[in-house]
Amino acid sequence: MRHIIPNSAFVIKNVIIHILAHFSVLQKWHQKTVSISVLVLATILASHVQSANILVILTFTSKSHYILLRPIGLELARRGHNVTIITAFKEIDPPPNYQEVMIDDIEVWDVLGGERPNIFTMVDKSAEEFHEKVLWGGLYGFTQVALNSTEVRDFLKKDNTFDLVISELFFQESFYVLAHKYKAPLVLVTTFGNCMKQNFLTGNPLQLGTVVFEYLDLIDLTSLWGRFRNAYFTMYEYFWWKFWYLEKQEQLVETYLAEFLTDRPPSLYDIQKNASLLMINRHFSFHKPAALLPNIVEIGGIHLSQSNSSLPKDLQEILDNAEHGVVYVNFGSNIRSSELPANKKTAFINVFKKLKQTVLWKWEEDQFEDKPANLVTRKWLPQKDILAHPNIKVFIAHGGLIGIQEAIFNGVPIVGVPIYADQFNNMVQIQQAGIGKMLEYRDINENTLENILNDIIYNDTYKNKAKEVSRRFKDRPMTPLDTAMFWIEYVLRHKDADFMKSPARDMSWFRYFMLDLYTVVITIIIVLAILVIIGIRLIKLISEYLMKTQQLCMKIKRL
Ligand SMILES: *[C@@H]1O[C@H](CO)[C@@H](O)[C@H](O)[C@H]1NC(C)=O
Repeated sequence: MRHIIPNSAFVIKNVIIHILAHFSVLQKWHQKTVSISVLVLATILASHVQSANILVILTFTSKSHYILLRPIGLELARRGHNVTIITAFKEIDPPPNYQEVMIDDIEVWDVLGGERPNIFTMVDKSAEEFHEKVLWGGLYGFTQVALNSTEVRDFLKKDNTFDLVISELFFQESFYVLAHKYKAPLVLVTTFGNCMKQNFLTGNPLQLGTVVFEYLDLIDLTSLWGRFRNAYFTMYEYFWWKFWYLEKQEQLVETYLAEFLTDRPPSLYDIQKNASLLMINRHFSFHKPAALLPNIVEIGGIHLSQSNSSLPKDLQEILDNAEHGVVYVNFGSNIRSSELPANKKTAFINVFKKLKQTVLWKWEEDQFEDKPANLVTRKWLPQKDILAHPNIKVFIAHGGLIGIQEAIFNGVPIVGVPIYADQFNNMVQIQQAGIGKMLEYRDINENTLENILNDIIYNDTYKNKAKEVSRRFKDRPMTPLDTAMFWIEYVLRHKDADFMKSPARDMSWFRYFMLDLYTVVITIIIVLAILVIIGIRLIKLISEYLMKTQQLCMKIKRL
């Protein structure tokens, strides 16, 4: 195993940077004492012994994914690690020990070779269609674009070494080969709250009766149909992924990565199976509790911290001055509200017109016909900080997990119109938690919208419940970001932390699910049953025989 102190000069440089940073803080203290300085110095030194070279792979070009995952690389850099990130998003002011390798920023629709569709139409796609067309179709293309990016190829040619590779788990498996290239442990991280196939890979219980597949739209998982659909789709996805999609990713490895490898890598399946850690975007205080192996860690809320209310001045004023509160509308970074069909748009506008509240809406066009006086639109809105404002009454959203977590964190009730992926699922959980309501896209009209909004705005139970969930969402031994840092550094300290991985990985599924045992037990029961039946038959036969001889004897006697 390689040690994780890559370059002592680098470590010392970082220690000095941090000491200087801490000194400027120290000078602000009124009673600074030498002993405190020494203590701080010692802590800094202790925490820097572990400076490592870390490669972070966030190749998916969706802004919401980046918003969620960017704190990981930045925080690692802040802690003195040398971070290299493959990404489509450039930081404005990155730290010096944070190198960005830019991939070509191409829209999924360009990759698929078509026009960007109106994303609201995705509401009609089944989970199967969504996987086939959008996830597998689109993400394969994305992976190809990322692998073929000039900066990525130049980077791979270089003679770099890494102690750890952290990658988003989102249908770009060929990149996992880099963990093999650099002989480094692999840490995976998701933006969604569950990863059913990873359960198969790592030997984590599937819990099909209580944990819903991440992209299924099920109202009642516990019903017989619900559990059937969950089990069926889990198998469907797993087999198509393993035997079809992963094969296509293997081909990408051949085409784009093989030239940078010195030996034949293990299969992508095995690389993923042997990942040291999976960090998932959930927390039991909102999601349902689930059994998780020690190397599957909940980091839901990782991108959230108390807002430092850095709202732009104009927005700050609008929010501050909203006497009756604010209705905040944002369907996320991928969906464009301005693409709403005319009748649905009119429904929204007519309802908003009647409200006393100010309405703040992410609207992607300059034009807005018949704009009500209480409506403010912007093409992009700093959502985290808006939701932190005390005047927000309700968040009208599409139910994407990231926005939902931002609302939960700030105790804001939600009206959700789910369109695709995990949004339906998220809204079912929001309803069950009593902190909002789902409004299905096909049901949007003036009536439904008005009723739901008035209910949420004027019925305090939603707000009170939202505050309660917010309190428990934040009540943890460590912040989610610190939790992620702890486990990432744990993997570094224990060099892959192989001992955390379940022995189930090396068992055949037949043995893991105890099918051999059940077979033996059932066979024994059947054999015993047969023996009992034969025994009974035999006793019957013997007794019949005895009866007959008795009768014969009696006949003979009578004669
Ligand atoms: C930090 O990582 C980059 C690769 O992006 C590498 O070129 C550089 O040498 C590393 N620095 C140290 C001090 O290891």
